[in-house]
Amino acid sequence: MLVSAKEMLEKARDGKYAVGQFNINNLEWTKAVLQTAEELKSPVILGVSEGAGKYMTGYKTVASMVKAMIEEMKITVPVALHLDHGSYEGCYKCIEAGFSSIMFDGSHYPIAENVEKTTELVKVCAEKGMSIEAEVGSIGGEEDGVVGMGECADPDECKQVADLGVTMLAAGIGNIHGKYPANWAGLSFDTLAAIKDKVGDMPLVLHGGTGIPEDQIKKAISLGVAKINVNTECQLTFAEATRKYIEAGKDLEGKGFDPRKLLAPGVEAIKGTVKEKMELFGSVGKA
Ligand code: 13P
Repeated sequence: MLVSAKEMLEKARDGKYAVGQFNINNLEWTKAVLQTAEELKSPVILGVSEGAGKYMTGYKTVASMVKAMIEEMKITVPVALHLDHGSYEGCYKCIEAGFSSIMFDGSHYPIAENVEKTTELVKVCAEKGMSIEAEVGSIGGEEDGVVGMGECADPDECKQVADLGVTMLAAGIGNIHGKYPANWAGLSFDTLAAIKDKVGDMPLVLHGGTGIPEDQIKKAISLGVAKINVNTECQLTFAEATRKYIEAGKDLEGKGFDPRKLLAPGVEAIKGTVKEKMELFGSVGKA
């Protein structure tokens, strides 16, 4: 069964660990993440970007597939199905489609409009028992063709949005989606501490989980981060394993061209990355 992310994140915050959000793109990706979460007895959040939702033919397909897989695979750990960086319209589509969690990314609106739209969505989510993530201060890097500049969120704006009753808050602290440039200054822990000071118990979300050094991940968790998003690293390990398989010529031998065999090394690679992250975030055995 799908669950809201609220309880798993509150437990993570209290237990000083973080739940991983792993973005999914297709059935194989979803299966790899669910299998790993079940094996490691870890709660998990499946992230779906608007682009991935379209790719999979729509949010209804995604929600039906994930619910059926949880049942068929006999998954017992808590799983949240979460819209990642949702637009206002996208949020409503996912609410209707049966997601258990949404992120409304209103960070590009003026703060007053972000507050207005977030307030409305908080109300709808509360009625449906869904969790909702809000964003203050845009996260850098490129996501589905949209390039954010990356900034540090204003702690007072974070408090303003946290007080609207969101379940979790993504605040920019110098984090970037995708690969980090060589001259990256690192996470701003001063900003994180100032935000934490203002928002109290609110579970914080760290986007751009790919490529953040382990010590910075651990420090962020100690300062209130309870959810960490990982996407690019799974894509990179999947692509690398697939490339090696094809280069080895195995896809041309025997039944090697079978799509199930062709995708298998990539799927194993995703499982390895998910396991590594769950161990680093400390969520193993917490289901
Ligand atoms: P990465 O692609 O850097 O892992 O970030 C994922 C993310 O934050 C999704 O919202």
